[in-house]
This record gives sequence, C-alpha cells and structure tokens, in this order.
Amino acid sequence: MTTDTTTQDATPDATAPRETVLDARGVTMRFGGLTAVRGVDLTVNSGEIVGLIGPNGAGKTTFFNCLTGLYIPTEGEVRYKGKVLPPKSFKVTAAGIARTFQNIRLFANMTVLENVLVGRHTRTKEGLWSALLRGPGFHRAEAASRARAMELLEFVGLAHKAEHLSRNLPYGEQRKLEIARALASEPGLLLLDEPTAGMNPQETRATEELVFAIRDMGIAVLVIEHDMRFIMNLCDRVAVLVQGEKLIEGDSATVQRDERVVAAYLGEPFEGAPGDEEAAEVEQAEAHAQAQAETEEEAAAEAQAESAETTTDAAPGKENDR
Ligand SMILES: Nc1ncnc2c1ncn2[C@@H]1O[C@H](COP(=O)(O)OP(=O)(O)OP(=O)(O)O)[C@@H](O)[C@H]1O
Ligand SMILES: [Mg+2]
Repeated sequence: MTTDTTTQDATPDATAPRETVLDARGVTMRFGGLTAVRGVDLTVNSGEIVGLIGPNGAGKTTFFNCLTGLYIPTEGEVRYKGKVLPPKSFKVTAAGIARTFQNIRLFANMTVLENVLVGRHTRTKEGLWSALLRGPGFHRAEAASRARAMELLEFVGLAHKAEHLSRNLPYGEQRKLEIARALASEPGLLLLDEPTAGMNPQETRATEELVFAIRDMGIAVLVIEHDMRFIMNLCDRVAVLVQGEKLIEGDSATVQRDERVVAAYLGEPFEGAPGDEEAAEVEQAEAHAQAQAETEEEAAAEAQAESAETTTDAAPGKENDR
C-alpha cells in the first residue's frame, strides 16, 4: 500500500503500487570521439508520463535509440520490468517497449489499417506455416488482429481513414497513425519522439489528450518534445538533457524555475553568434545616445553663438554634426 502521495491530478490507479517499468542506468553512447549520451540514469514507473527535454543535439533521440535496441550503449544497462533488454529492436518491442520516430516512419504505400497490422506482428502467435496454409487458425488470428487494429484506429481518431494510403494523410494524422501502430504491439511502455512536431495548436492539444488516454490504459509514457507547454501540462516528471548529460530531473515547476535549464535553452537559439546580438544592441544604444548628445551640443552652441553675436565660434560644432 502506498502512503499519501502528493495530491496531483487524479490518475485512475493512483492508489495502485508503482512498478518500475524502465530502469536505465549509466547509459553512455559514444560515436568515435563524440559522446552523445553520458552516464544517464532514468526510471519510468507504471502510471507515469515522463518528459525528456533538452536543446537540439542534446542526445535525446540517441538515448531513445539506446533504450530500444537500435543502438547498443557503449556503457550502462537498460532494464524493462526488471529484465535486461536484448540488443535487438524487434526483441525490445516483443518485450514491451514501443516507439514512434522523430522522422515519421510509415509504409507509405500501405493503407492506414495495414500499417497498424504490421505493428501487431510481434503479438500474433500464428507462425509462418499457418500463414502459408491459411488454415482456420490463421483466419481467426487475422480477424482478431484486424478487429484490434480497427479499435486502435478508432482510439486515435483515424478509423474513417482505414483504407486510405498512409502517404495521403496529412502530417498530423501520420503522427497519430504512428502512435496507433506502436500501440498495436500492446506495449507496457511507449516512447514518443517529438509527437507534436509540425502540428498546429489544436492537433497538439488533441495529442495531449491522447497521451493522457494512453496513460489511463495502463501504458507508461516517456516523451521527447520541444513544445514546453505540452511537456509541462502532460508530465509527472521531466528530465533535462544537455550535451548528453542529465542536468536535472523533477516536476514541471522545479524544472521550469531552474536557472541552468533556462540558461541551456536561452543559450541555444543564438549559438554560433551569442555576442553579435548583444553587440548590435549596445551599438544601437550608443549611436542613439551620441546623436542625442550632439543635438544638445549643437543647440547649446547655437544659443552661445547668438548671445555672443560672433561669426566663427559655431563652425567647429557644425563640422562635427554628421
Ligand atoms: N549515428 C550517429 N553517428 C554519429 N553521431 C551521431 C549519431 N546519432 C547522433 N549523433 C550525434 O549525437 C548528438 C546527439 O544527437 P541526437 O539526435 O540524439 O540529439 P537530439 O537531442 O535528439 O536533438 P534534436 O532535438 O535536434 O532531435 C549529435 O551531436 C548528433 O550529431
Ligand atoms: Mg531528436
């Protein structure tokens, strides 16, 4: 039994004991001389939505690739529900981790429904012979798979497009289809790499609701996103990666007010020319102040010339005018 946890939003299984779904320890990934991920620890518990944020090139996708068997970490260990993960993508999916990709990876010439059916293959018990012989077992399994795939399309709001070719879907719907396909493997943990990239605000809002619904289905979620509002609304915990290292981890409020996080983000858009912006601003302010001073000086000189009624004194001031 869990004691009084902080009263956050009401998760359906708020009283259920938490299980560690993902446990990544000391994950390091080197590419030649470049260390893209350095000694990262991260856990995700059942019932949680955890955010992974950080500037471009921080190592977020690389870390996902280490969790899903696409890369074998140079150092460290990744466990899913207590078991060390096998170093192969399809085995990781079979173990219970599904993902979507930053750059959408769908079968463009397959229908929407077929794309989801592909995602089900790790859960289909019928083997090769059954498929070749197309016996009653195969037909039963196929019908069940199609029914489940349609359910998932309903869930993400794409059932009406089941027979469309996936390449004809608008971008936002392709992202939803990727989520449906990932869910088709019946995962215990879903990894989303920038699920709202390229979406408009309404689509982003709908995706937020979709992720909450996924969590409510009992699937833990780890999500990478650059949209801070999305992350802060959604996540129970947020971890920040900067240059491959975990800078901080905590609830939204803690992360948002951390000066190092702010600095990491503010530093990022101007990278390459951080001094230039400031220098231009200072130059502009100086030019403005100088122009003002000259105008005042000129006015004073003119007043002096008038009062003295001389012919030559005002000339040097005029030379400096422009
Ligand atoms: N296969 C690879 N070979 C060599 N370097 C790589 C490889 N994959 C990633 N990197 C490098 O690792 C670093 C981290 O990249 P990664 O794509 O993980 O960043 P990211 O945090 O996902 O960035 P973004 O927000 O832009 O998606 C980058 O410097 C990148 O160039
Ligand atoms: Mg990335």
